[in-house]
Amino acid sequence: MHLKSVERVLLLLLTQASTGSCQKHIVQVPATGPSETLRPVDLSFTGFAFEQASFYNYSFLSGKPNVFSQNLIDSVLSRTGGTPILRVGGTSGDHGRYDASQDNATNYPATIYKPRTSISEDRLSIGPSFFEAFNNWPGAKFEFMVPFRDTDFSRSVQWAKAGLNQIGVHNLYTLEIGNEPNFYPWFSVDEYVERYRQLQARLIAAIPSLGDKRIFQAFDTAANFADDLTSKDAFEAGLNKNATTIKQAAYHYYQGHGISLEGLQDWIRHTTTMHNLTKFTPNIDYLNTNHPAIGFAFTETGYNVAGGGEEAIKPNNLATALWAVDFQLAAMAVGVRRVTWQQILRSSLNMWIPVRSTFSEPKVTANFYSQPFVADFIGKSGETRVMQLDVGSPNQGLYVAYAAYDAGKLSRIALLNLEIWHSGEGDNRARPQISFSLQGLPERISQATIHHLTAEKGALAQDNLTYSGFEWTYESRGKQSKVKSDSKVLAVNGGNVDVVVKGTQAVLVELA
Ligand SMILES: *[C@@H]1O[C@H](CO)[C@@H](O)[C@H](O)[C@H]1NC(C)=O
Ligand SMILES: *[C@@H]1O[C@H](CO)[C@@H](O)[C@H](O)[C@H]1NC(C)=O
Ligand SMILES: *[C@@H]1O[C@H](CO)[C@@H](O)[C@H](O)[C@H]1NC(C)=O
Ligand SMILES: *[C@@H]1O[C@H](CO)[C@@H](O)[C@H](O)[C@H]1NC(C)=O
Ligand SMILES: *[C@@H]1O[C@H](CO)[C@@H](O)[C@H](O)[C@H]1NC(C)=O
Repeated sequence: MHLKSVERVLLLLLTQASTGSCQKHIVQVPATGPSETLRPVDLSFTGFAFEQASFYNYSFLSGKPNVFSQNLIDSVLSRTGGTPILRVGGTSGDHGRYDASQDNATNYPATIYKPRTSISEDRLSIGPSFFEAFNNWPGAKFEFMVPFRDTDFSRSVQWAKAGLNQIGVHNLYTLEIGNEPNFYPWFSVDEYVERYRQLQARLIAAIPSLGDKRIFQAFDTAANFADDLTSKDAFEAGLNKNATTIKQAAYHYYQGHGISLEGLQDWIRHTTTMHNLTKFTPNIDYLNTNHPAIGFAFTETGYNVAGGGEEAIKPNNLATALWAVDFQLAAMAVGVRRVTWQQILRSSLNMWIPVRSTFSEPKVTANFYSQPFVADFIGKSGETRVMQLDVGSPNQGLYVAYAAYDAGKLSRIALLNLEIWHSGEGDNRARPQISFSLQGLPERISQATIHHLTAEKGALAQDNLTYSGFEWTYESRGKQSKVKSDSKVLAVNGGNVDVVVKGTQAVLVELA
């Protein structure tokens, strides 16, 4: 750590000597956006996912609807006007059981236990009251998982019937069959397809209202194993026969396993993200060409998955929040339909902790701050297309820019400076900054309003983040409150404007 920061200071002095104190990166902004073959970004792009047992505590606080969770989700989705899409499922549920005689919602409350993810452990068991947790989300739709791993499909059918009785088929976004099947002991692509179709037929026979809809979700392939169960392989192995039943092809994405502070810079680097993300794009291309009605989604997503996300070093800080922004903007630019962001109560990857427990006080974590930024970038038009912009000079993947076009009209730009800087703790530099010189803006644009996603303490800040001067806290029960006025209006002259972005900071530019 110490040596690294010395090296960084030297590097900075060298770059300052050659280019002055604020490097300028010229960004030519195309007047027209991506071609119409790229689908507009879904207003529901920013979804949330809940590990099975955790969902109950995200939904209820001591038996009453958890208003804190409700307000946070509303703070994000009200920015686009999209329907909240909530995924409920995961490994513990897939190994789990439904027990109609169990009074408690779960036998392993998420406030006390980590998710039951190992088959050597006792299984998670849910009772009928678990499904009441689906009733506290007005206007939301669900990606509802039914277990698939076990070969005894009657248990899956029981789970689905009890759940859908409470949820209502009309509130489903998708019915998800299983979780990370590439880890199943019986897995092969052919076996997957065969059993998927068998269980689907059993579910439709038991719940006939599933039969006349495109409502099923397939795959939920584990992160880092993009090639184990590709869309092409599975459809060609026989899912093609039932393609009209499938609404969403789902994949999981965690940036990696186990994160250290020393590795944080490479972890969030844009080139790392693109290297990982492009492993999934053949699926998107395949679906666009062969099954355009089926959306590609990342249904379980986070920056880190080691130990269920509960490990000694718990970044969940401004740096990982910026990664979450970059990942989502990059994903929408390549045609990902939605991202549902994983919440596990006892973990470091969540966006908020919904209730008090021995693990933590309820709180909003740093990662949450990515979501209002991403939602504002999407906007409300429903006709937004996003492209990544060329930032011009060699940057080792630290500087990134995206443009959002509403029905072909340039409307917003997002600028990220992913260089890690934090106050103290071995980094004694003044906060670095660069200038993005935006050029070629259309004549009609005369001003640029800029909003910051930042924290005074920099990359490692876990509290006191702000986006557009807003803060979200448990004290305000997840409603935004203005704590700072750091937004600014800049004049655009001759189609050009320079925007300064500090190290570990993102800026949303609204053009008018
Ligand atoms: C958390 O969920 C469990 C059921 O899994 C429930 O018994 C408990 O009351 C919940 N905790 C709070 C604080 O609501
Ligand atoms: C069910 O909940 C009650 C009340 O919270 C608790 O005393 C009991 O231990 C729980 N049972 C199980 C099996 O978790
Ligand atoms: C992303 O890249 C890192 C570094 O190469 C790797 O460790 C990680 O497994 C990758 N994640 C995914 C989802 O492919
Ligand atoms: C799935 O495909 C098989 C074979 O073509 C067909 O018999 C069955 O009706 C299909 N199921 C649905 C729900 O479309
Ligand atoms: C920073 O966050 C802490 C913990 O959430 C809070 O107590 C404190 O008031 C905040 N400081 C400022 C300046 O907002």
